[in-house]
Amino acid sequence: MTRVMIFSAEPYDVEFLSAANEAASYELNFQPARLDVSTARLADGYPSVCVFVHDDVGRDVLEVLAEQGTRHVALRSAGFNNVDLEGARELGITVSRVPAYSPHAVAEHTLALILSLSRRVHRAYARVRDGNFSLAGLLGFNIHEKTVGIIGTGAIGTVVAELLSGFGCRTIGHDPLPNERCLELGVEYVSLEELLSASDVITIHCPLTPDTFHLIDRDALARVKRGVVLINTSRGRVLDTKAVIEALKRQEIGYLGLDVYEEEEGVFFRDLSEKVIQDDVLSRLLTFPNVLITGHQAFFTKEAMTEIANTTMANITSVAETGTSPNEVSSGGAGA
Ligand code: NAI
Repeated sequence: MTRVMIFSAEPYDVEFLSAANEAASYELNFQPARLDVSTARLADGYPSVCVFVHDDVGRDVLEVLAEQGTRHVALRSAGFNNVDLEGARELGITVSRVPAYSPHAVAEHTLALILSLSRRVHRAYARVRDGNFSLAGLLGFNIHEKTVGIIGTGAIGTVVAELLSGFGCRTIGHDPLPNERCLELGVEYVSLEELLSASDVITIHCPLTPDTFHLIDRDALARVKRGVVLINTSRGRVLDTKAVIEALKRQEIGYLGLDVYEEEEGVFFRDLSEKVIQDDVLSRLLTFPNVLITGHQAFFTKEAMTEIANTTMANITSVAETGTSPNEVSSGGAGA
């Protein structure tokens, strides 16, 4: 029987993966630990290992897994920047992912961040609970007729463009591969420089690759409109966070909405409410009144979790039976 070791397993992973496993009845072993070189031994004798975004699937870890008989790493995410694909290929380990489980989940969360910031809902929530019904400091702005720049118009960026068309926004996009649906929606493709200088709202939906690491750095931020709304639900390292903090201090960035953070591993997905946060950059970000951070939850809807679990189990079956999967990832690509 196929045995699967599931790393970084949270209670919701147990719920959704167990439901998706009803038909196949594989032996699922849920392990709360994150996969790294020290925990890889837990997967000894497991042909399939299932991982999430903060698991370390680098070469050292893959070598241990391969030596112990693992033949398949099943990502329960779209992004795979945490996997050494070349190493996996050399070691004969198949890597699969869940390519598009619910672009709507991430796109709707993006809209939630834009609207919370533009209408200061995050501030109003705390204020009203404290019995303060004053409107001072809560002045918002309409996103109707504003220019929204979408960096990366793939599956998620396209749904963002669809949703924004309902708000009557002008949308401009930057992507090396423009897509037809966005063109139909009236998205105008422009250079990154033009997008940065023309947008009232900038939202990032490209993968993390060597090309997009710190895509939004000091030079890029020097081009933005003063008071811009900057949203990142893609990967933390696409933004140079220290440069972003400087731009917030100079009030060049008017609002910042993040679902991802450069150093989120070890912080996000954990309850640190009783601990002292040691990351000074994150702590500084949390002090700004115009910054709203969520802890990598954009994907986290019932619909998306069901799809992730079903596709992951289908990938495991496919690799166990045929050695491959339609959702196999090979070296050369990157994609929560
Ligand atoms: P996708 O692969 O459908 O689209 C990505 C788009 O980015 C493609 O059209 C690609 O051509 C474009 N792109 C690549 N390099 C670029 C560059 N240098 N500049 C501009 N565009 C570039 O991926 P999808 O499904 O839309 O996901 C996008 C990203 O969102 C993922 O890579 C992942 O990092 C992130 N994500 C975050 C989640 C969360 O919970 N916060 C959940 C799911 C995905």
